Amino acid sequence: MISDNFLLVAYLTASALFIFSIYGLSKQETALRGNVLGIVGMLLAFGATALSSEVQGYGLMTLMIVLGMIIGIVAAVTVAMTALPQMVGLFNSFVGLAAVMVGFAEYLELDLTLPSTELTIHQIEIYIGIFIGTLTFTGSVVAFGKLQGLFSSKPTFLPFRNWVNLLAILVTVALGVQYMLSDYPNGMQALLIMSGIVSALGIHLVMAIGGADMPVVISILNCYSGWASTAAGFMLGNDLLIVTGALVGSSGAILSYVMCKAMNRSFWNVVSGGFGEGVSTGGSGQKIEGEATPTSIEETVELLDTASSVVIVPGYGMAVAQAQHPVSELTKILRERGVNVRFGIHPVAGRMPGHMNVLLAEAKVPYDIVLEMDEINPDLPQTDVVLVVGANDTVNPSAAEDPESPIAGMPVLEVWKASQVVVLKRSLGSGYAGVANPLFYKENTQMLFGDAKHNLDGLVSQLRADETASSNQVLVPST
Ligand code: TAP
Repeated sequence: MISDNFLLVAYLTASALFIFSIYGLSKQETALRGNVLGIVGMLLAFGATALSSEVQGYGLMTLMIVLGMIIGIVAAVTVAMTALPQMVGLFNSFVGLAAVMVGFAEYLELDLTLPSTELTIHQIEIYIGIFIGTLTFTGSVVAFGKLQGLFSSKPTFLPFRNWVNLLAILVTVALGVQYMLSDYPNGMQALLIMSGIVSALGIHLVMAIGGADMPVVISILNCYSGWASTAAGFMLGNDLLIVTGALVGSSGAILSYVMCKAMNRSFWNVVSGGFGEGVSTGGSGQKIEGEATPTSIEETVELLDTASSVVIVPGYGMAVAQAQHPVSELTKILRERGVNVRFGIHPVAGRMPGHMNVLLAEAKVPYDIVLEMDEINPDLPQTDVVLVVGANDTVNPSAAEDPESPIAGMPVLEVWKASQVVVLKRSLGSGYAGVANPLFYKENTQMLFGDAKHNLDGLVSQLRADETASSNQVLVPST
């Protein structure tokens, strides 16, 4: 057993480690250190809590830890990179469920000997904790289902949805008053009815949100899960849980804001839902006049041979094709030839924040040539060739040029401003938002159809073969 003072110091140290961890995670160069600091902080927090005087029942706890570890390790090893957002969604739901369980357990063990003010505050904490936890739980389960393809990613909602939601909230408030006025343990009835209504509210809120807004929703639910932990911390009187929950809650809120900005969507607009109505997700998109120009590996190599500046714009298709390694190889070859190669990363490229950065880092692409959208956009008009590798929505000119487009106003990488654009994808099909892409039909765009990895491997082999041929020419003088 450790003393309360030691526990306090351990919690303070763990809180500081979590703050430094988040700071480290904000840059690729320091992300590994950030991760390690987070792990150390969590081990310290966990160890100190396990050894504190309040904890008993080590047998059951060990069993739960072993079970949790097995599930965590299996998930980490088996879940594909492309399925990470839904895994985050599912894990958020566990946090919500935990807060709900803590809330009910606390109510069942309500300490009626507390002074009346403290008792009132504790009862309010329980009510709010169960409210946030339930909303997070059911909302996250639906978000998981949508991303996993178990439910349609189209917005689905009841008629007069905003009124329905408002009514649910008003009933919840009324139930809260009834709960506070009820003698113990009669408040349980109001708590149960409230959690039923809030469960339905969580489902309805997330079902109403269309596919293209799901990343923001995951981030918002992540933010809720943080506040659910904070609520659990208040219920249990655990300072560390309050601090960690607040860190998760506020960083989730900031991330949601940044993502909303990247999609030119207002926060409230996303939460109230309905975006993507009538838009087919993953379908072939609307018809666009004109014809796309197909190209070949040989023609693309010719273009690259004459280019002095190349920008590579990766998207979800690079992740699907696992094309990051040939992308890295291509970058190396071009840089060895003195070509100025850089990457343009859209904040919501792929299927999770930082998706492209993680893949490029894995393939050892130097950090300093990986630029964000705002940094690279001004340079695109002076760029010779842009290679779009499996990106679609994030390079769609209709966002900037067509006010009627469902993604109108979303900031995108303005690749069409470069001299030449080569798009590597398998078809003219639309991306995640289900919006047709006029980029494919522009005069300066050529389509290199096929799997991105296959075509990039082809480009790399051709460039290498050309290099070998030219060095042989130098070595073998003509007779
Ligand atoms: P998307 O618009 O989703 O387009 C990806 C493209 O990759 C598809 O059009 C597909 O075209 C192509 N593709 C798939 N497999 C391929 C393969 N093996 N080889 C080559 N191409 C392949 O991608 P994006 O530009 O990255 O945009 C991301 C979208 O996802 C945005 O709408 C964003 O809002 C949404 N979203 C983002 C996140 C986060 S946080 N990043 C999370 C969820 C959703 P073909 O079928 O023709 O090959």
